[in-house]
Amino acid sequence: MNRHATPEPAEIRHVAIIMDGNGRWAERRGLPRLKGHQAGVERVRQIVEACPGLGVRTLTLYAFSTENWRRSAEEVGGLMALFRRYIRSEAARLREEGVRLRFIGDRGRLDPRLRQLMGWIEEETASGTVLDLVVALSYGGRDEIVRAARRMAEAVAAGRLDTEQIDAALLADMLDTAPLPDPDLVIRTSGECRLSNFLLWQAAYAELAFTDTLWPDFTVAEFADILAEVRGRERRFGRVPARLARG
Ligand code: IPE
Ligand code: IPE
Ligand code: MG
Repeated sequence: MNRHATPEPAEIRHVAIIMDGNGRWAERRGLPRLKGHQAGVERVRQIVEACPGLGVRTLTLYAFSTENWRRSAEEVGGLMALFRRYIRSEAARLREEGVRLRFIGDRGRLDPRLRQLMGWIEEETASGTVLDLVVALSYGGRDEIVRAARRMAEAVAAGRLDTEQIDAALLADMLDTAPLPDPDLVIRTSGECRLSNFLLWQAAYAELAFTDTLWPDFTVAEFADILAEVRGRERRFGRVPARLARG
């Protein structure tokens, strides 16, 4: 390889976002936290719309974690109502834009009305081919891996699976994200530098980007800047830098 060749831009097709900071955004304005969540939904619309133009093929959004059930009944109830409203109001637009919406997470803990709407919009948008939009709702990386492990154990107990067949590919197939590629990039807003139980298995080799911007202030312009910066990084996956590689 030519030592002076410019490295290929890193392929960033699947972006996952930890949309954090809605509560602080509202508190700074003297508003109830739920107002911050409402403002956050507006950002979701804009970022989703911008993805195809920015070369993003899959977008996964962390909307509600398994730990978020610990919040007040008022906040949880308000968020659940917001999810139901989002599904009802977005269905037509998502279909028009060719967006396929799917959910990951433990649906068993969700209200049956919301669960029904989730199934409905997944079917409504199933033919979308422009963008895969994945919403992580009642989602926890550990919970997802535990559910996958349980399913494998059941298959072994029933004689449908040999333990020798268990490998990384099979485990990935048992996760909620089975049909999707791993994220290339995980972005977290609001200045916190942690994963908070998001895509623990899938993000093994994701690039990470943190910004102080609170989610309701996160613009398409900042999203484009982060993508440009990350596409300039070299992703090595354990290999040595391309400029040093021989043969
Ligand atoms: C993220 O915003 C949205 C959810 C977790 C549902 P937060 O509600 O965590 O906002 P902060 O972190 O309190 O500012
Ligand atoms: C992570 O944010 C979950 C979502 C953005 C949905 P949190 O605000 O719940 O995370 P911690 O508690 O600060 O780690
Ligand atoms: Mg938070």
